[in-house]
Amino acid sequence: MTQMLGLDLGTTGVKALAINNQGEVLASHTEEYKLHHPQQGWSEQSADDWWEATVKAIKKILKKESVEGKNINGLAFSGQMHGSVFLDDEGEVIRNPILWNDTRTTKQCRKIEDKIGKERLLELVGNPALEGFTAPKVLWLRENEPENYEKLDTLLLPKDYIVYRLTGRRVTENSDAAGTILYDVENQEWSKEVCESLGIDRNLLPEVLDSVDVVDSIKDELAEEVGLPKDTPVVAGGADNACSAVGNGITEEGLFLASIGSSGVVLAHSDHMEIDFGARVHSFNHSVPDKWYLMGVMLNAGLSYRWFRDTFSSLEVQTGEFTNRDPYELLNSEAAQAPPGSGGLIYLPYLNGERTPHKDANARGTFFGFSGTHEKRHFVRSVLEGVTFGLRDSFELIKDMGVEPKQIRATGGGAKSALWRGIQADIFGQEVVTTAVDEGPAYGAALLAGTGSGVFESVENAVDECVETNSIQSPRPENERIYEDLYPVYRSLYTSLAEDYEKLAEFRRKWEFE
Ligand code: XUL
Repeated sequence: MTQMLGLDLGTTGVKALAINNQGEVLASHTEEYKLHHPQQGWSEQSADDWWEATVKAIKKILKKESVEGKNINGLAFSGQMHGSVFLDDEGEVIRNPILWNDTRTTKQCRKIEDKIGKERLLELVGNPALEGFTAPKVLWLRENEPENYEKLDTLLLPKDYIVYRLTGRRVTENSDAAGTILYDVENQEWSKEVCESLGIDRNLLPEVLDSVDVVDSIKDELAEEVGLPKDTPVVAGGADNACSAVGNGITEEGLFLASIGSSGVVLAHSDHMEIDFGARVHSFNHSVPDKWYLMGVMLNAGLSYRWFRDTFSSLEVQTGEFTNRDPYELLNSEAAQAPPGSGGLIYLPYLNGERTPHKDANARGTFFGFSGTHEKRHFVRSVLEGVTFGLRDSFELIKDMGVEPKQIRATGGGAKSALWRGIQADIFGQEVVTTAVDEGPAYGAALLAGTGSGVFESVENAVDECVETNSIQSPRPENERIYEDLYPVYRSLYTSLAEDYEKLAEFRRKWEFE
């Protein structure tokens, strides 16, 4: 029986997933690793930790009853985007990789904008210079650790480092190259102009493949160690968001993904390269060859709900423990008791700043409009609604770029709640569906492994064979009308408050509150 492995090298751990050629999940296993914050705003991981956890995860999944090493046709990785793995000429890691959520590079981002020009940068690579992206990390290394920069021979992305250890080849693929802002996303090649302007030697950058290309076979000694056939192909794989899109079947125009995990993502497939000259929506290469996706990322989606649970819901947490129920389930029931629009109470989900649509590290969470008649149920519901309004901001921006929505597929923790899916349908004014398998980016990686190793003819064919939608939630016109009235107020609140957020940030700095 044909089987495939998809692995997702995430920020908290690596997940291994085995599927068969009908897309059925056979087993999964996750190995965790540490996140290091050596200084305020820094975020790093050990590449050796990634490697050891990956080898363990592969060994463990191959030991599961339903999985047979000898039947594995191929494997592919999805991975956290933008992280920098700096290799020397011996292939040794020079320093700990700097991750996508590291914010040390503000100075370098401004330098990139000054050297190239904000608009020219968008024209060249489709995206702005954000702290989390890769190019500013390279400049940071050159300015702050010149002795390490001297040794730099190859820059790799996180999952590509694991592919390198498995195969010996230093390569990347389109969807991850896109997140470096050194890559011409439209023409699918490293940008000569950006590299030259920043003084980054083109030879430091690896060859770029398509997500479905085979990189090479796994090294013989490793195949033997983990229990895979000697010639098992390692397929190039994709960035986590591209893989998540593939796993949810977002491979044609009109299909949108709305993901509520810790962060919130709205992503849409695009047959063409489009640029948001307002620099709010990212344009990256898809794992479907010669296609793109547009994406807005909000920083505090599920995190908002978790904060509310941890800060105001000890009763639900205790009752949950006592009755063996999830506290979120109890909170959802309370939210369902409040009317749509929460009686005019609005929550702004900017707990730790925001990325799309307001690139603003100073923005903060806000409850607006409560009176003496508001109860806890209104506050709970307003959090669900505020997060969804935040997603709608990205949805609107993507629509403005010319993508006509046909359907939204909900994924992540937020998609598990029928109430929240209903709120999404009402606020987006669109049908919201879920897919039968919700295993995150690892599932998309497994489909890429199947495509690259010849089980499926193409990514689209893999999706046709394996991805099925199940629950359908249509928007309810009576609720839609209420949200249509409230959304403009939600939208204008940030503009009204932006200066005050700034003043508050000064206050916090002065009194050392952060
Ligand atoms: C995307 C981004 C995150 C990381 C997290 O631009 O920064 O989604 O890929 O894994």
